[in-house]
Amino acid sequence: MKKIGVLTSGGDAPGMNAAIRAIVRTSLNNNIEIIGFRNGYEGLIDNDYVVFDRRLVGNIIQKGGSILHTSRSSRFANKKYRLIAEKNLRALNVDGLVIIGGEGSTKGATALSKISKTKCVVIPATIDKDMPLVGPTIGFDTAINSALSAIDKIRDTATTSNVTHIVEVMGRNCGWLGILAGIGAGAEVTIIPEVKIDIAKLSKKIKSQLDRGKKGCIIILAEGGFSKGGSSLASALKKKGDLDLRITTLGHMQRGGNPSALDRVLATELGVHAVNALKNGLSKIIIAKPFDCVEKIGFDKVINKKVKVDMYLHDLIENTA
Ligand code: F6P
Repeated sequence: MKKIGVLTSGGDAPGMNAAIRAIVRTSLNNNIEIIGFRNGYEGLIDNDYVVFDRRLVGNIIQKGGSILHTSRSSRFANKKYRLIAEKNLRALNVDGLVIIGGEGSTKGATALSKISKTKCVVIPATIDKDMPLVGPTIGFDTAINSALSAIDKIRDTATTSNVTHIVEVMGRNCGWLGILAGIGAGAEVTIIPEVKIDIAKLSKKIKSQLDRGKKGCIIILAEGGFSKGGSSLASALKKKGDLDLRITTLGHMQRGGNPSALDRVLATELGVHAVNALKNGLSKIIIAKPFDCVEKIGFDKVINKKVKVDMYLHDLIENTA
């Protein structure tokens, strides 16, 4: 292993910079050249890269976003462009590539591995935690904390003004972010894509909470949890009875900000292991920490597989409301 490339791909996630830093420093400490492709897979196609030295990754461990930028490359889905990427990797003599991203990025890495001799490893990074088997993804912990600090503020006004708030959180088609934000915020209800909602029951539940003396309720709506979104949920609830409702969409604020301690540590650990895996000649694996130890998980075990949320945790929300 003489030369490694690194790129960040898909939706950005806090902690990506910490991973880049660990990959660069570990490579250089092992006398391996390290280059960073800009804008995810787009950089591979356009041969747009930076040659890293130690200083270029100084002072980035605490920064959100990615110094390499990201993209969801539609060109890379086309074999014609993947062949250009392969040619560029070959011309640059890149022996190994670390892809920092989520499930879509792993699909890209799988497709690239089929046509390229460059060894590919993925580090899971997405605020959604929507990849099976890999455990916490880089950015997930920070996103929950960002959501929580916003929801805590909403709780202040909800209880003061006696109003029920619907707070929309991200997560794409996966309820993990909604569940953990729901527990952490002490929400009365969390609606996730994995569980079908019954509007009549939901309305009854909120009303009974208010009748019991609660001053304002928080309903967390995870992205995809009610297909038509927060305002349609509010109208559906209003049809079932008189509820004073407000809606807040947290949106992309959940993707920004300084990474939490957990995300910095996870990103650093996975970054170091990714370089070591490449040094050991491994390829087509995700480096992740589902439990206490770092594990190597085959691409095929993750892509197109359904991610399961923890329904016990989901039920904790209602059981403690
Ligand atoms: O995958 C991260 C994520 O923030 C999802 O939660 C959300 O569905 C999506 O990306 C939004 O993507 P974009 O910023 O490209 O619209």
